[in-house]
Amino acid sequence: MKRAGGSPTVALNAKGIRMREEGIDILSFAAGEPDYDTPEPVKAAAIEAIRQNDTHYTSAAGTTALRRRIVRKLREENGIDVSEDGIIVTPGAKPALFAAMMCFLEPGDECLVLTPAYPSYRSGILMAGAGYVPVPLRFEDGFRVTRKMLEAKVTARSKMLIVCNPCNPTGHVLSAEEVRDIADFVLAHDLLLIADEIYEKLIYDGREHLSLGALPEISDRVITLNGLSKSAAMTGWRIGYSASSPSLARVMLKFQQNSLNCTAAFTQTASVAAFDCAAETEAMRLGYLRRRDLICDGLNAIPGITCPRAEGAFYAFFRVDHRGMSAGELAEYILEKERILLVPGTAFGEGGEGCLRMSFAADEASLHEALRRLGRLFG
Ligand SMILES: Cc1ncc(COP(=O)(O)O)c(C=O)c1O
Repeated sequence: MKRAGGSPTVALNAKGIRMREEGIDILSFAAGEPDYDTPEPVKAAAIEAIRQNDTHYTSAAGTTALRRRIVRKLREENGIDVSEDGIIVTPGAKPALFAAMMCFLEPGDECLVLTPAYPSYRSGILMAGAGYVPVPLRFEDGFRVTRKMLEAKVTARSKMLIVCNPCNPTGHVLSAEEVRDIADFVLAHDLLLIADEIYEKLIYDGREHLSLGALPEISDRVITLNGLSKSAAMTGWRIGYSASSPSLARVMLKFQQNSLNCTAAFTQTASVAAFDCAAETEAMRLGYLRRRDLICDGLNAIPGITCPRAEGAFYAFFRVDHRGMSAGELAEYILEKERILLVPGTAFGEGGEGCLRMSFAADEASLHEALRRLGRLFG
């Protein structure tokens, strides 16, 4: 625990909440949280499940109904051929991530992470006692990864690679070429691959989401992580899952049995309905797309700011060139001068220097106001 830091985004969010409670007029774009409400059919199903006393332990791996629905979803939407005993339902995707790292990483092992990355990857690796090996991607290259970059970081101790697609924070969506390179790489070095697909449904401009777990030659070494937090605006429900070969799932199930036990019963029951809420998810995606364009166009109009159009997820990850300030200094400066809370790119590890992350899962009035204040500060 000494080696792992806290979560910078959670800490910043708490700071924003505290400032607001103190009556400070602050605009916070630090959280990774949809601003939509959970679809009505899911809420109705949860209320009914509680009425029916669906309030006891479930099997540790999750209810049969939900696991079957996940199996169908993965087959139909992702081309991932997984059986029911390869699915573990967890209270959010994060516990599935930690289960995988606790189960398959040991002191002496190394885990490669494409950075900038979700900070919990690093924390989890360090909590498992393993070595964290960043593979820094470049802003100038659109955060694309190549086989060469991966090969430069692999050692005899490498055990696992973590990939987030679409990526939090950069919004990058893996191309077919990158997927091929990653698959060849993990196969050549006998690695496990964690594919975090939590933002899968939030992809723009006609891009296609490609699941690494769908490639037959590596499917037995891929642990796909997903959940309903982002796709169905269900962060507080805590529903995620892992999908893998039954032999990997058996190990992770032991971890779940001995730690979390199971995911809340009525949220599991209600979650089955979320997989039939494609129309609601699509409406959210279109809303995020509109706000992505609003924020990118607005930021790019400010001198010194370069904001690539996020290919997926709901974050603008932009570079600010201002008096040689570091990302941390910039975030402090913006908070102090204009009361806007953003996350410094360095919170996401190597490759994030000079950048800031701004969630555009926020109401349009706040986004307009933030653009006005940033324009005043840098214009
Ligand atoms: C990349 C990534 N993976 C996993 C998670 C965790 O999601 P959950 O709320 O399902 O635990 C998040 C949440 O911010 C995330 O951004």
